[in-house]
Amino acid sequence: MMKRKLAAGNWKMNGTTPSLAELQALVSVHKTPSVDILICPPATLIAQAAGISADSTIMIGAQDCHAAASGAHTGDISAPMLADAGAGAVILGHSERRENHNETSDLVAKKALAAHAASLIALVCLGETLAQREGAQTLDVIADQLAGSLPDGTTGANTVIAYEPIWAIGTGLTPSLEQIGEVHAFIRSRLDDRFGAGAAQDFRLLYGGSVKPENAAEIFATSNVDGALVGGASLKADDFSPIINALE
Ligand code: G3P
Repeated sequence: MMKRKLAAGNWKMNGTTPSLAELQALVSVHKTPSVDILICPPATLIAQAAGISADSTIMIGAQDCHAAASGAHTGDISAPMLADAGAGAVILGHSERRENHNETSDLVAKKALAAHAASLIALVCLGETLAQREGAQTLDVIADQLAGSLPDGTTGANTVIAYEPIWAIGTGLTPSLEQIGEVHAFIRSRLDDRFGAGAAQDFRLLYGGSVKPENAAEIFATSNVDGALVGGASLKADDFSPIINALE
């Protein structure tokens, strides 16, 4: 399988209609990118964003979905609804969902299954807390989250993995390149164990946590890093565009 690198932006709970000018700017600048570009705005903007990116290669994604396709779940949005709105991917198991909404890996796996059924790429997030990092538990935490969050039927085509150390998110702190490389190599080896060496190579492994134009190139040069999941620096085209360029 041809594996293209991926620059993904997670706008989190930021953005109203005027913010779509940033997406428009990306569409204008990155006409024939050699990497995949994904923007995940808040759900309220997905349909408009999909309209803006329709004639470009930029994919629009969501930040969460419900595990069921429909039903009595007030306030929730299902994977088929996201696909209908124009999304091609959905972030699942972000640490802010795991922490603020008590999402377990088991629930993330059910959501990933729902995403796959709706032909959405599941972008599954994993990451340790600072206490876990300092307690030398990082690889155990990652192993548990990885094993629990990927449903049967997971492939490198329908799933992307993002390693996002919680203590690096929005803090300006980043792990050393050695630490990033260690965790990514570990994730790849666990994917080898479960899906087979050939299949494991198909997965794109993103790093996320305080990725900026200034540090993107060195992070992208790290072994087993196939792109980034970017929060704050994805909100402005002037910040995200150089990150995309660093990946190309
Ligand atoms: O999902 C991306 C995110 O959690 C990283 O956020 O602001 O540190 O790039 P940020």
